[in-house]
Amino acid sequence: MRVGVFGTGHVGLPTAAALAHLGHDVVATDVDAEKLSALSVGRLPFYEPGLEDLVRGELASGRLRFSANPTATVTDRQIVFVCVGTPPRASGEANLLALERAAEIIGRHATGRLVVVEKSTVPAGTARRMQETLARYNGVVSFAVVSNPEFLREGCAVEDSLQPARILVGSDSGEALAVMRELYAPLIELGVSWIETDVRTAELAKHACNAFLAMKISYANALARICELAGADVVAVADAMGADPRIGRAYLDAGLGYGGYCFPKDVAAFERLSARLGYRFRLLEEVAEINGQAVGFAVQKVEEILWNLEDKRIALLGLAFKPGTDDVRFAPALEVARRLLAGGARVVGYDPQAGATAKAELPELEIAADAYAALEGAHCAIVCTEWPEFRDLDLERARTLMSFPILLDGRNLYGDAAAAAMARAGFTYLATGRHPRPAVPASIH
Ligand code: UGA
Repeated sequence: MRVGVFGTGHVGLPTAAALAHLGHDVVATDVDAEKLSALSVGRLPFYEPGLEDLVRGELASGRLRFSANPTATVTDRQIVFVCVGTPPRASGEANLLALERAAEIIGRHATGRLVVVEKSTVPAGTARRMQETLARYNGVVSFAVVSNPEFLREGCAVEDSLQPARILVGSDSGEALAVMRELYAPLIELGVSWIETDVRTAELAKHACNAFLAMKISYANALARICELAGADVVAVADAMGADPRIGRAYLDAGLGYGGYCFPKDVAAFERLSARLGYRFRLLEEVAEINGQAVGFAVQKVEEILWNLEDKRIALLGLAFKPGTDDVRFAPALEVARRLLAGGARVVGYDPQAGATAKAELPELEIAADAYAALEGAHCAIVCTEWPEFRDLDLERARTLMSFPILLDGRNLYGDAAAAAMARAGFTYLATGRHPRPAVPASIH
């Protein structure tokens, strides 16, 4: 099928590449012409495992192209995906201007029947707005707006696009649903679960999923506090909970809380949407509140153990909002850094991928070339992102490099055996919602 994709960000690019991989003819566009030129030669604007290879492969196959020309991306297409950004406004509501602009271009350039798919996360009711906008700019063509929410995770975007857990498609047009079934036929044939609803239900289901996952994380973070106060272990509690298939273990990892460009803004947008509809979704207010506290508790622990932050050098291991990405948008690590800097500490961060993006977002943050360079002279280290390479730190080397061997594990990266090894190596190891491990031999140098 002939597909157009608006937006080549974290959602649009994997979507375009995956659809090309399924055999469709895909042309993707973006407001950023420089980005389109780089993409046309296979250079990606962000790090996402496996995506560069997929894009290059599909460019070579000729099934994927990038173009700023609306004729290529709209006029001769059967389906156009809208994957543009929906950043938060100060009120927490989603800013949908990019969607309206995309609808204008689509409206102006469409010449025949067109299915317009909203893939960006949008408040319920947006499809109706899109439909009205398309009709305003084009009274001739018949458009069908479909909601096909994206469930892909950064860091696993390729896998989530090519082997999704389910495909959700909402439309009030039976004809448009048939077009979407044809588009996704290769995945449906592989047994991927296919869910059809009306358009508003699909829009709402996306909000419901992200908010529910965020709620699980906040539940785990609240439990972590209680475990610390009660002398219990939050990882063991989560394991016990997760053994019940009705609960499930996923998204019960306590730590510095959720970040990224989805959960924080989606929880806020869902809460705002509910309020506008006349229901105060207090549960979501609490989810966001608990999430905001997680960073504060970590910083408190650092202050508790270091006394004054002035004159202290603090190493942050991991800056991205999660491993597998260079994305630092709403990253808890940067919030930790801001608070420590505000307290007068010197903050040095290292991340396998996100050093440059973090520096651009927070210029006061020093970026080290590797974990050991960050640890050199540090009075405390905080694991902010659970990159696997931090599991294999050479403890002896780390301890000799640090001024005080204190490690705060903001992601509970280290299991019991690793925590015990750390204590034996002279570290004071503080986890989140778990028993602290004092250093076996005291060592301050
Ligand atoms: C999330 C959803 O998981 C996707 O299904 C959805 O498509 C996407 O948002 C979106 O709306 O576009 P993503 O933000 O890429 O995906 O990342 P996640 O892996 O879900 O993690 C989000 C945050 O929660 C990260 O900061 C992560 O560290 C944190 N987290 C996750 C925890 O603190 N604890 C957990 O147990 C799990």
